Amino acid sequence: MGTWHFFAFVLATITLRKPSEAEEVARFILQSHAEARVFAFTGDLGAGKTTLIKALCTVLGVADQTSSPSFAIVNEYRTGGGDPLYHFDLYRLKVAEELEGIGFDEYLDSGSYCFIEWPELAADRLQPGTLHVSIVAAQNGVRTITMGH
Ligand SMILES: Nc1ncnc2c1ncn2[C@@H]1O[C@H](COP(=O)(O)OP(=O)(O)O)[C@@H](O)[C@H]1O
Ligand SMILES: [Mg+2]
Repeated sequence: MGTWHFFAFVLATITLRKPSEAEEVARFILQSHAEARVFAFTGDLGAGKTTLIKALCTVLGVADQTSSPSFAIVNEYRTGGGDPLYHFDLYRLKVAEELEGIGFDEYLDSGSYCFIEWPELAADRLQPGTLHVSIVAAQNGVRTITMGH
């Protein structure tokens, strides 16, 4: 008799061919993970993390994404419903202790949408409910997005 392996996560893979498809993909991600609030985006520089997060913000009704400085570790937006939404870019973070200084765990526990780029240094703080989104760009520019808890 063979051995069956059961996995505690579900993986879904989507193909994103051009930036103009990002909103459609964002809508699908939100609809297929309606309960998810914390999203961690991994992928090389230029993979398309920020592009996808901006599309997610647009789908959630964020009106103005242009006013925030791009060097901040966290930017706060408002959804169409007036709820806060947080976009973290941990690229410039040097040590995980810096996360305490910005109250990272409180953001994650707030129940608001949290989109995290470069989550590697924060890995220990991410709860099991976090939706991990990985983006890989192929030579031809097509992005493959894999999602799972
Ligand atoms: N799905 C896509 N197809 C083609 N180009 C894309 C796609 N997503 C992003 N790009 C382009 O790749 C570049 C880097 O994207 P960006 O979202 O800033 O990457 P990251 O945040 O992962 O470093 C941008 O010029 C953007 O227009
Ligand atoms: Mg980025």
